[in-house]
Amino acid sequence: MKNALITGISGQDGSYLTELLLEKGYNVYGLFRRRSTGEYGNVAHLADKIHFIYGDMSDLSSLITAIIESNPDEIYNLAAQSYVAVSWAEPLFTNDVNGAGVAKLLEAVKLVKPDTRVYQASTSEMFGKVQQIPQSETTPFYPRSPYGVSKLYAHWIAKNYRESYNMFVSCGILFNHESQRRGKEFVTRKITNTVAKIKYGKTDCLYLGNLDSKRDWGHSKDYVYAMWKMLQHTEPDDFVIATGKTYTVREFVEAAFLCVGINIVWQGKGANECGIDAETKKTLVKVDNKLYRPAEVELLMGDSTKAQKLLNWYPKYNLQSLVKCMIDNDLELEK
Ligand code: NAP
Ligand code: GDD
Repeated sequence: MKNALITGISGQDGSYLTELLLEKGYNVYGLFRRRSTGEYGNVAHLADKIHFIYGDMSDLSSLITAIIESNPDEIYNLAAQSYVAVSWAEPLFTNDVNGAGVAKLLEAVKLVKPDTRVYQASTSEMFGKVQQIPQSETTPFYPRSPYGVSKLYAHWIAKNYRESYNMFVSCGILFNHESQRRGKEFVTRKITNTVAKIKYGKTDCLYLGNLDSKRDWGHSKDYVYAMWKMLQHTEPDDFVIATGKTYTVREFVEAAFLCVGINIVWQGKGANECGIDAETKKTLVKVDNKLYRPAEVELLMGDSTKAQKLLNWYPKYNLQSLVKCMIDNDLELEK
């Protein structure tokens, strides 16, 4: 029986990864921040199967203790201040957790159990102002947010520990992945949840920022499987994980409304653009300038050929099946 330590266990990916590892017979340990509400987030339904260890990425002593207590064969470092928009409001905190926190974790692994296999959650945000389309492992980075910069530091320090100390540290450069467990501040879940509320008359309009930005959206379940595959591979490496398809936020909105039988047509441009119900002529989508970011990542589209070849990894979900499962969940929630 293998031991796995997951940081960020209460998040979206942490919960799906926990389900996968439990299915595979792992002992799962989760680094967990104390919460004033005492809740277990996305792993509440698995709480009796997880060994929780209090800790924080900014606290080296807690990371050392977590490694001693869990004696891990594998560590999945998923903990992060993961919301890009907030990284402008909290740049230093974002860097402490996402950047310096990773150096602390790697140092703890090196000191306590250097043969542990480590997964680092790198991100397509590191490509930022993209230098190539599609983006692969060899595309130069150009981060566009404090979040992207913090993750780029983490990516390089992870590679550095791999090369300096011969440690098994793999980085998954994952493109956006979503699910019904996604936080409601992220655009996909905000859309599916608000569409469900509109359907049940609980609200009348969806307010969004940049409708033109394009993302390569997959499902978290597919992506945590890729994380696990990376740590079973013969060698540590970097892998892009993506669907290879890109859609605008506007197209995601259209797909979500179609799931509840509403056909959206667009009128106006820029801040004056709005989405109108083709049948009732009601305005259901408006642009709110406050939701634009100081700098934007306009287009992400990943090339996961390397993961397909070396890990035999392929996504099962496409945009339509992703949107459908998120909408079905939110309709149930808002009923
Ligand atoms: P998420 O739902 O926001 O989960 C983040 C997790 O990190 C939560 O469990 C959170 O705990 C924990 N955390 C935050 N700050 C912490 C700290 N200081 N110490 C310990 N734990 C802390 O994110 P996700 O979507 O699952 O993403 C997982 C990882 O993949 C993140 O590193 C993210 O940056 C990266 N990533 C995500 C995507 C994506 O599209 N989802 C793409 C590429 C990379 P609380 O519950 O206590 O807040
Ligand atoms: N959140 C949000 N809310 N985004 C909006 C909105 C809105 O009302 N309106 C438009 N957008 C646009 C954003 O400007 C961005 O271009 C796009 O929708 C996606 O935003 P998010 O869903 O917040 O995700 P993200 O792409 O910034 O970051 C996510 O993906 C990264 C991987 O590329 C996060 O999961 C990161 O942690 C992850 O690394």
